[in-house]
Amino acid sequence: MPEVAITAELPGRAIEWLEEESLIRLNTGVQITDEAKLIDFIGSADAVLTLLANPVTDRVLAACPGLQVVGNCAVGFDNIDLEAARRRGVWVTNTPDVLTEATADLTWGLILAVTRRLGEAERLLRDGRFRGWALDMLLGSGIQGRQLGVVGYGRIGREVARRAEGFGMSVAYSATSELLDPDPPATFMPLEELLSTSHVVSLHTPMSRQNHHLLDEARLRLMPVGSFLINTARGPLVDEAALVRVLEDGHLGGAGLDVFEDEPVVHPGLLERENVVLLPHIGSATEETRAAMAELAAKNILAVLAGEEPPTPIVRPADH
Ligand code: DGY
Repeated sequence: MPEVAITAELPGRAIEWLEEESLIRLNTGVQITDEAKLIDFIGSADAVLTLLANPVTDRVLAACPGLQVVGNCAVGFDNIDLEAARRRGVWVTNTPDVLTEATADLTWGLILAVTRRLGEAERLLRDGRFRGWALDMLLGSGIQGRQLGVVGYGRIGREVARRAEGFGMSVAYSATSELLDPDPPATFMPLEELLSTSHVVSLHTPMSRQNHHLLDEARLRLMPVGSFLINTARGPLVDEAALVRVLEDGHLGGAGLDVFEDEPVVHPGLLERENVVLLPHIGSATEETRAAMAELAAKNILAVLAGEEPPTPIVRPADH
């Protein structure tokens, strides 16, 4: 029987399915965030089911030559060296689609939380500072009739845009190229134009070497004074230190962040600010979604081990 290393406990039926077809090795301890420990854990396994915190580098792939497939339990795959996997003939798979709705919902949770100052309001109440209704208490920003700028018009970006109609917002998107027939309909704009005309900007583009600090200080300052930034994609898309500066001098009205440059570390300048809503990377964290992600990761692995095409590949050995 093939051997499958699973780097963390999984919800749903994923483990049960893997156990039927393979010998599993399950890490029940702390997350494996370093290469040497990951190498030790994978050993001679034929497959590994990974989480975002597991660094599947060239060194790891080289030290684990038995690996046929890395099944990442996430839609993002910036923890994996795809080029090395391609070169070494290892399948890499991810878990798209099943988390689209949950992540789009959470993005809207952040948009509303930031523009309506929900974090600040809750802190006020819990601190015993609520003295009764007041006409001028905690006034936020309306979003109706304003423009939502969606950076990256893939599955999640489009679902976020779809929800904008219900809130009366128009949508502009930027992407590597203009789509022929965007669904839902939205206006294509180059990134700079989108940034300078949107009341809320939400990031939904995958992380790659090319878009590290896609939003640097110059681009953040293109955003209108009092506008809002939402990031549920990946932390390093934004220069966090620059974001702190544009928040500190009042250029931005606020930010809603579910992801950070150096997770789980959060820039102290963000922690200090009332107009920033901070979440611990929970975009896809519903029971249903996390079970579906784990099950899709398991299906991908089982397909490769059975000599079949996995449902959601990112790297195929034949690509090399
Ligand atoms: C992903 O899947 O890439 C998210 O960041 C976690 O759901």
